[in-house]
Amino acid sequence: MADTLHADLLLTNAHLATMSPAGEPYGIIRDASVAIAEGRILWAGKITEQPAVIAKAEHDCQGQWLLPGLIDCHTHLVFAGNRADEFEQRLQGVSYADIARQGGGIRRTVQATREASEEALLALTLKRARTLMGQGVSCIEIKSGYGLDTDTELKMLRVARQVEQHLPVTVRTTFLGAHALPAEYQDDADGYIDLVCNEMLPQVKAENLADAVDVFCESIGFSREQTHKVFAAAQNLGLPVKLHAEQLSNLGGSELAASFNALSVDHIEYLDEAGVSAIAKSGTVATLLPGAFYYLKETQKPPIELLRKYRVPMALATDFNPGSSPVCNLPLMLNMACTLFALTPEEALRGITINAAKALGEAEHMGSIETGKLANILQMDISHPNQLSYEIGINPLNRVWHQGRMLTR
Ligand code: NIG
Ligand code: FE
Repeated sequence: MADTLHADLLLTNAHLATMSPAGEPYGIIRDASVAIAEGRILWAGKITEQPAVIAKAEHDCQGQWLLPGLIDCHTHLVFAGNRADEFEQRLQGVSYADIARQGGGIRRTVQATREASEEALLALTLKRARTLMGQGVSCIEIKSGYGLDTDTELKMLRVARQVEQHLPVTVRTTFLGAHALPAEYQDDADGYIDLVCNEMLPQVKAENLADAVDVFCESIGFSREQTHKVFAAAQNLGLPVKLHAEQLSNLGGSELAASFNALSVDHIEYLDEAGVSAIAKSGTVATLLPGAFYYLKETQKPPIELLRKYRVPMALATDFNPGSSPVCNLPLMLNMACTLFALTPEEALRGITINAAKALGEAEHMGSIETGKLANILQMDISHPNQLSYEIGINPLNRVWHQGRMLTR
């Protein structure tokens, strides 16, 4: 009996898309079972190789597929208002950057978010989080960046932190104080960066409100030098960094991010080979955001071939926000990444599972069905995991376990 496993739950009669890097594409194991104890995966593999298990409960998956919980590793989930009128302007040919330069864009959302109460923002955020959870999302990264003053940045992060207390979902928060220049600092970008580094960041750290720090490095955002200052301040406080980089032009932000061992560089349509080589060396994940590419009618594609050549892990995320990507749908990103960026369906699914976990520095705990990881598991009515990139708008999700607990839907 020494080898008998004691489990809280045994999932049997399933096919697994473990998304583990070893073995078959998608980490497929057919005719498999998964044993769960104390919220973690105790064992996963072929039924024929399963050790003896004494389980408190058993669930028959009836030949359906089990996948790891999905991870949306780049969102701006906390904001008030919407910018549908700017969408109409853009359809008439006005560019995203021009709208921003004329005081619209991010600043519009900043105004609405400053005016919203914490309760109102929380209600909006929970609604969006529930939408993602209904698609099988078990972990959401949420950024600040629509406050651009100390009080509102802290308010946004507190709202993001509260989500976990209301919903069975994991949240990782990111401080994005350097998202845009607020009107009060119109002619003093360096002064604003000082505020971010010397006032906002220390308070964010003191209240443990952020797991990482992000900057929008762009002509309509902040320069490389300003980004460097924020990264240095984050590093001093022991916070990891990531970057909105090379979205509209190539400012070399990714190389800077690599020099700080950034978790990820995100967007990266204009990333060149020197940048790809740099992030390959630093182990930084390339996060692709096809929703923003699509909404902005961008034509420059991220350098997928180079990312493959240098073996840079590619993650995918919604970038859900009211300007460049008002799309609260992570599975849709699978299809968009295949159609717009020529990812394979397997690369796309890795992008919202194991590589998204890497982009959050959480690959030890999430992103695949492997012994020791959190039991965030989806049961899906599909005939093969490639179907998830192929179909749009059909939700094959049948059951969800979050940290070993079945969620009622
Ligand atoms: O990820 N690029 C900068 N930030 C967001 C857009 C924010 C907005 O337009 O409100 C993005 O695309
Ligand atoms: Fe973003």
